[in-house]
Amino acid sequence: MARPKIALIGAGQIGGTLAHLIALKELGDVILFDIAEGTPQGKALDIAQSGPSEGFDATMTGTNSYADLAGADVCIVTAGVPRKPGMSRDDLIGINLKVMKSVGEGIKAHCPNAFVICITNPLDAMVWALREFSGLPHHKVVGMAGVLDSARFRHFLSLEFNVSMKDVTAFVLGGHGDTMVPSVRYSTVGGIPLPDLVAMGWTTQEKLDAIVQRTRDGGAEIVGLLKTGSAFYAPATSAIEMAEAYLKDQKRLLPCAAHVKGPYGLDGIYVGVPVIIGAGGVERVVEVKLDASEKAMLDKSIDAVKGLLTACKAIDPTLA
Ligand code: APR
Repeated sequence: MARPKIALIGAGQIGGTLAHLIALKELGDVILFDIAEGTPQGKALDIAQSGPSEGFDATMTGTNSYADLAGADVCIVTAGVPRKPGMSRDDLIGINLKVMKSVGEGIKAHCPNAFVICITNPLDAMVWALREFSGLPHHKVVGMAGVLDSARFRHFLSLEFNVSMKDVTAFVLGGHGDTMVPSVRYSTVGGIPLPDLVAMGWTTQEKLDAIVQRTRDGGAEIVGLLKTGSAFYAPATSAIEMAEAYLKDQKRLLPCAAHVKGPYGLDGIYVGVPVIIGAGGVERVVEVKLDASEKAMLDKSIDAVKGLLTACKAIDPTLA
């Protein structure tokens, strides 16, 4: 059977890291696309030349032509600009919305059967816009944010408790921005919920509150340190987890920016919720019971996402 074809639209920091991870994991053949001439070709050649040492056979091709995306099974979108220190993700909306238009049209014309994972920020608005521009079914277009936010939460919790990250599960809902909702009740160490660990004296409520806030600010912390761009290793790894769930029909339960119509009282908006990803794309949106304070935080986050959608529609009236 032919290897799956994985198109990476955007060959910058995240795009290059995605290509490398796909090669190392032998998930499929890679097409790296970018508008910058030479960048996707150069990265593809560089990664291909790590093949003899790593022992992979997946092929790497760089291109500036959308036609080369034809027949892609998975498409991961990172095209656009990342933020600089002092910027919020929302500050990128004007530039990146235009990029989503050209990328969406390229996907529609050349790989309409792909499972599409969007990473470009501001995520919840860009994945919505990409779906609108591409016209693909909602269950085949999803945004990567929750896996990354949860990974950050899990990392910080593992440091606090001095336990393996493997044993920490975490749960983040809502938009990929300052209003995201890291859920303390649904996060555990080896199945023990965080409130129980506070009661057991493993940590204090104050320390837990600080970890929740550090998770919300996780992207900005890295932007502040790097100064020239935003995080790319963990974002790429998170998107690969989602792509692998689709390609291998793993039925993973992962927090993703998915189209939600019905659950959580929503009427068709992209926002971070737990979903099942398998061969059918987003196969199910999982609605968990929220208490009053979690519901209030989620509502606030949804309002922030709706504000971004209004801004998108003002910039591009065809979206209205
Ligand atoms: N079509 C294709 N590629 C484009 C386009 C376009 N219209 N516009 C820009 N690009 C390319 C750039 O040439 C660059 O190679 O997108 C790439 C983006 O790479 P980086 O600047 O290195 O950004 P990266 O760190 O990969 O982040 C990409 O993901 O997490 C988000 O906020 C982040 O929106 C940003 C995106």
